[in-house]
Amino acid sequence: MDFSLDVAEGEFLCLVGPSGCGKSTFLRLVAGLLTPSSGEVEILRRSADHGQPLTSIVFQEYAIFPWKTVRDNVGFGLQMRRLPPREGREVVDHWLGKVGLRKFAEAFPRQLSGGMKQRVAIARAFANDPEVLLMDEPLGALDAQTRVVLQQELLRLWEEDKKTVLYVTHSLEEAVLLGDRVVLMTAHPGTPKAEYRIDFPRPRGLELTAAPEFSRTTYTIWSALQDEVLRAMEAEA
Ligand SMILES: Nc1ncnc2c1ncn2[C@@H]1O[C@H](COP(=O)(O)OP(=O)(O)OP(=O)(O)O)[C@@H](O)[C@H]1O
Ligand SMILES: [Mg+2]
Repeated sequence: MDFSLDVAEGEFLCLVGPSGCGKSTFLRLVAGLLTPSSGEVEILRRSADHGQPLTSIVFQEYAIFPWKTVRDNVGFGLQMRRLPPREGREVVDHWLGKVGLRKFAEAFPRQLSGGMKQRVAIARAFANDPEVLLMDEPLGALDAQTRVVLQQELLRLWEEDKKTVLYVTHSLEEAVLLGDRVVLMTAHPGTPKAEYRIDFPRPRGLELTAAPEFSRTTYTIWSALQDEVLRAMEAEA
């Protein structure tokens, strides 16, 4: 089975699909964290800029090092790339400022709330400046209020630094709020079933979620997703 996805440079692409269809597997294949049991993964890159890492990934669970400070967590990728310490420090400070964690630079993850830990993971991914940012339900473990706040922060970050993003979420509202395009995957084994271009103007804010056109779009996607969710459940039963 072939699965191919074209992503434009600087595009925010959201992937949605029923649980178990292979969204995380797909991101991990792109990140090189998994190798396929058969077949191959081919990634055609736009440039051959070898200084820049291809991907950075943000997971749902707080995948930051508990024994490292906030600063060292955010700077981890830069350190691995052997960026001169002074330069690295500037980049880290910049991103700590962006996510509002300057004051917590020397804190350890256990001293932080869930939302703050996810800000650390997001800052680390941006600081690493990959060609493609991979996010696997990065806000999925947060309470609803923190989630809304972080959605807005993510919008601001991305609007200032338009990275190419592959973003997996179960929330269609989140996909429509953040994305330029939403790709709906079929039930396992997931293949792209439909895609929706999301043309709401940017910068986008919370008020967009109150617009009738916003609800109509999420409803349209939900109608198509529903069939796949039911198919996935039948397959499990
Ligand atoms: N194309 C595929 N071929 C073989 N196995 C697959 C394929 N896609 C996914 N799987 C397997 O299916 C299982 C579920 O996949 P995965 O965790 O990627 O789903 P998901 O869409 O991220 O689900 P969730 O929404 O619950 O996070 C995993 O065990 C994975 O190894
Ligand atoms: Mg998953």
